[in-house]
Amino acid sequence: MSDSAHGLLAEAKAAAERAYAPYSDFHVGAVVVADDGRRFVGGNVENSAYGATICAEANAITTAAAAGVRKIDTVAIACLDTGECYPCGNCRQMMREFGVDRIIVQDPAGDLREHTLEELLPHAFGPDQLAGDA
Ligand code: THU
Repeated sequence: MSDSAHGLLAEAKAAAERAYAPYSDFHVGAVVVADDGRRFVGGNVENSAYGATICAEANAITTAAAAGVRKIDTVAIACLDTGECYPCGNCRQMMREFGVDRIIVQDPAGDLREHTLEELLPHAFGPDQLAGDA
């Protein structure tokens, strides 16, 4: 699979096909590209106790972290059910933790947009604050 933005978005879409979203019927997929080039995918996983739902990005990021990743370069996000699909606030915060540089999303026409995390989560709280060197 290609490492290009379009290739990553296609991979995210394939992950969205495997999402478990029987309640919202809103299928999201995400691909994480770690700093060592490894890729991790995830789809949203819903739960009948709605609050236990896991977002696609959270799924991919925690899978990467469990594999030892501590720096993420890129996250690509796609959904099947609407054109535009931006990450929720909680997932943006998770991206901050692992230093995401680039976020790729699809636009309403199904094409792509690229953002920095600073654009999507300005003045973010992060590990540097706790370390006292903010
Ligand atoms: N969802 C994600 O997977 N990622 C987001 O960033 C926003 C929302 C999922 C959660 C839920 O399963 C469905 O989309 C509707 O909110």
